[in-house]
Amino acid sequence: MTFIKVEQKDFVALLTINRPEGLNALNTSVLQDLSEALDTLEKDRDVRTLIVTGAGDRAFVAGADIGEMAELTREEAVSFACAGHEMMNKLSSFPMPTIAAVNGYALGGGFELALACDLIVASSRARFAFPETSLGITPGFGGTQRLARLVGPMVACDLIFTGRRLNAEQALALGVVTEIADPESLLERVLEIAHAIAEKAPAAIRNAKSAIYEGLCGTLSDGIAIETEQFSRCFDTDDQKSAMRAFVNKEKAPPFQGR
Ligand code: COA
Repeated sequence: MTFIKVEQKDFVALLTINRPEGLNALNTSVLQDLSEALDTLEKDRDVRTLIVTGAGDRAFVAGADIGEMAELTREEAVSFACAGHEMMNKLSSFPMPTIAAVNGYALGGGFELALACDLIVASSRARFAFPETSLGITPGFGGTQRLARLVGPMVACDLIFTGRRLNAEQALALGVVTEIADPESLLERVLEIAHAIAEKAPAAIRNAKSAIYEGLCGTLSDGIAIETEQFSRCFDTDDQKSAMRAFVNKEKAPPFQGR
C-alpha cells in the first residue's frame, strides 16, 4: 500500500493517509489503499479502536483529487463516487470505534472521511469545509447524507451551499467535533481516548456501536428492540461475567479478554 501507513500497538491501530505533497487528497489509488487497509484491520481482533489521520502538519485530507475528477464523464463520475462510498461505508461500518484525528484541512472528501468516523478530535489548526459547489459539483462521498444526519438539514444546507470554512471552535460549537487539542498534542490526546476505549469490554463497545447506528435507521421502538438484542448478547461473554463478579465480590476486575 503506497499511500497508507498502518501502525498497531496495545489494541489501537493508527491509519495515516500518506500523500502529504498533495495534502493527502483522495485519488483512486488512495481510496483503494484505504479500502484494503480497512478490510485487513476489520478482521484483526486485536484492533479495539481505529484512529484515522493525515500525514504532515497541514492537512488531514484536502478533498477528493480535483485533477483526477476534472475531465470525468458522468459515467466515470458514478464509478468514482462508488469507489468513495465503498471505502467510506467500510469505515462507517467498522465494527469497533473509529476516531478521526483532524490535523489540518478537512475539506470535501476529507470532511466526509472524518464524518464517517465515530468521533472527530480536531487540532486547533483544523479547518472544515465543503468547497464542492465552488467547483461545480455536490459532495459525492457521503457528505450530503452524513452531515445532514449529524447536524440536521439546515446546518448542512448552510455549510454545503456556502462552502464556508469552519475553524475548530466553530466545528465544536456545531457538534461536528467532539474535542479540540493543541496541534503538538493532538495525536497524544487521541491515543489517550483510543486506549481508554480499548480498555473497555470489546463486545460491549461493538454492541453499543451497532445499537446506536442501527437504531437510528428505524423508529424508536425498532431501536429499543435492537438495544435489547445487543444488551442481552453481552451476557454470553466471559468479560461480562468476570467484570460483574469482581464488582459483587469487591475485587479488582481482570483486564477484558475480548471473549
Ligand atoms: N486535489 C488535488 N490536489 C490537491 C487538492 C485536491 N483536493 N488539494 C490540494 N492539492 C494539491 C495542490 O494542487 C498542490 O499540488 P502541487 O504542489 O503539485 O501544485 C498541493 O496539494 C499543495 O496545495 P496548494 O494549493 O499549493 O496549498 P495552499 O496552502 O496554497 O492551499 C488548500 C491549500 C487546501 C486551501 C488548497 O490546496 C485547496 O483549496 N485545495 C482544494 C480543496 C478542495 O476544493 N477540496 C474539495 C475537492 S471536491
